[in-house]
Amino acid sequence: MDAVWQSLCDRLGTKYPIMQDGMGPSPTTSLATAVSAAGGLGSVSTPGLLTPEVELRKKLRDRMEQVAVNAEGPFAVNVPVGTLASGEMIPSSAYCIDEAIRVKLAGGPVSDHFVAITTSAGFPGGFTEQIKEAGLIHIHKAGSVRHAVKAAEAGVDVVIASGFEMGGHTHLNPVSTMVLAPQVIKELDIPVIISGGIHDGYGLAAVLAMGGAGVAMGTRFIATTEHEWHQNYKQYIVDSGEWQDMTYQGYYAPSRGLKNAALLEELPAIKATGISVDELNQWKEDRGYLAQMEGDTVKGIVVAGQVAAAIHDIVPTKVLLERMMDEAIGLLEATSSSLGALKATRG
Ligand SMILES: Cc1cc2nc3c(=O)[nH]c(=O)nc-3n(C[C@H](O)[C@H](O)[C@H](O)COP(=O)(O)O)c2cc1C
Repeated sequence: MDAVWQSLCDRLGTKYPIMQDGMGPSPTTSLATAVSAAGGLGSVSTPGLLTPEVELRKKLRDRMEQVAVNAEGPFAVNVPVGTLASGEMIPSSAYCIDEAIRVKLAGGPVSDHFVAITTSAGFPGGFTEQIKEAGLIHIHKAGSVRHAVKAAEAGVDVVIASGFEMGGHTHLNPVSTMVLAPQVIKELDIPVIISGGIHDGYGLAAVLAMGGAGVAMGTRFIATTEHEWHQNYKQYIVDSGEWQDMTYQGYYAPSRGLKNAALLEELPAIKATGISVDELNQWKEDRGYLAQMEGDTVKGIVVAGQVAAAIHDIVPTKVLLERMMDEAIGLLEATSSSLGALKATRG
């Protein structure tokens, strides 16, 4: 019988059990194309949670077309479905899912390469039926066993279990990856991808050994040559060290970024002015763009995970994926060759 990762690779059409997860609002189209060509699953990121509907639909469609033009493999679209402080789901979630499904149903080259929608940041149940009916795989990202179970019960095909150390919007109740991963894998009878803090073959080997269906990464993929974000952003990740990450209030949950003047000085100062929640969210989105696209790592918010401290180079995605596979295979081989000795310790 195929291992769980093999069946999922077959279903998604990928060579390797490695996924680049969504990182909005700036584009990740060149990155997604490169990851897919290198054998992984690339993701188109949401174009902005606060963008008006018409512009949002157009931007998403453009991004999907850009990936598909050069695509050699499958890609996913990421859509956060979180709720705002008011309790309402961010309106952009429904527009993005609807637009992505329209593209899928229209057929043609974009549709051919587009295989999955990854929802995140909230309860995905309201979207499962339409996503699956369109012939797409519904992947949902959850940060706790209970949310993973709820998503599986709602009918999603695959769960990404992501630990609190992840970059970007993380979870209200912190559970770290090593605590979360085995529990979710054991609890669910659908494939589980593990995410949060993974950057190399060590993480991949651990996940495969525990029965995971693959790994999803965000921060590691920022520091790749094909990624379209500014070189300064990539270098800030490479130069960062242990304890440089911090969380701050995101749109609907804590978000993780790297310490700099924007997060340590400007954010508290602007909050103290009594600015409205909407204005503050817009400020954060603008400051994200400033770092990602213009390379201002002082005034811009450098969104990234704790794993930034372990990333020391900017490499082509193909090199990254091959290196991870080599490392994981080497580690698993070494482990299996010492199994006899391990068993012998039992007497
Ligand atoms: C810059 C950045 C932006 C992100 N934006 C999103 C997003 O728009 N939607 C989403 O579901 N997750 C988002 N994430 C989380 C990633 O999809 C992924 O779950 C996370 O990066 C995994 O943890 P890692 O950074 O330790 O690899 C973002 C992460 C980063 C670093």
